[in-house]
Amino acid sequence: KMRKKIVAGNWKMNLNLQEGLALAKEVNDALAADKPNCDVIICTPFIHLASVAGVLDSQLVGLGAENCADKEQGAYTGEVSAEMVKSTGAQYVILGHSERREYYNETPEILKEKVLLALKNGLKVIFCIGETLAEREANKQNEVVKAELEGSVFNLSAEEFANVIVAYEPIWAIGTGKTATAEQAEEIHAFIRSVIAEKYGNEVAENTSILYGGSAKPSNAPELFAKPNIDGGLIGGAALKCADFKGIIDAW
Ligand code: G3H
Repeated sequence: KMRKKIVAGNWKMNLNLQEGLALAKEVNDALAADKPNCDVIICTPFIHLASVAGVLDSQLVGLGAENCADKEQGAYTGEVSAEMVKSTGAQYVILGHSERREYYNETPEILKEKVLLALKNGLKVIFCIGETLAEREANKQNEVVKAELEGSVFNLSAEEFANVIVAYEPIWAIGTGKTATAEQAEEIHAFIRSVIAEKYGNEVAENTSILYGGSAKPSNAPELFAKPNIDGGLIGGAALKCADFKGIIDAW
């Protein structure tokens, strides 16, 4: 595969600052001792970012936020801007995670603004898409993921889209222990790539990394990563333990 192979961890709302720093150090040390065959990224809560940046070798482990504001700056109490995220040393931001869409009412329009601000501030975007169980059962997964791309990232130029990593996360597989089979994941990843090719052409589509997320673990990662259109993983629960995260990285 020419495009980047990536394993990204999403800590979600887990680990206090001390615990997060300890895990980041442990991951960094493990990868320094045994160089990964892929890009590794850790995405942490906002308050961890600046401290975690200080313990990571940025050549070895990338750093990202799990969200950013849909406004540039100003009187938005409690929000954190893309520029602030960038200033911590982070290079990435996760946007469009199903938990943000569902629990914090992030609409395609809001996500479009967030994506634009992230890119404007030099962050790469890990953009999440994926269907619910009901949508999968109604065989609507393809139209759902296509609409999510169209709604928030297909307004970008090809040049801008080069800074987008797509993460396919079937909502029914997130934190449930239920993984999509490698075949199910490959099928929809291939579809996602074809939709990107229709919009931006084959070259852009071939260069886009498409990650799988949803109960990925060391035991199922090799099978997933062996598929031609699966370029890595966005890892939740298994990113909270160094051995599990490293086990997934080692699947490359
Ligand atoms: O962003 C990560 C995904 O939501 C997957 O979470 O690995 O705990 O299922 P999980």
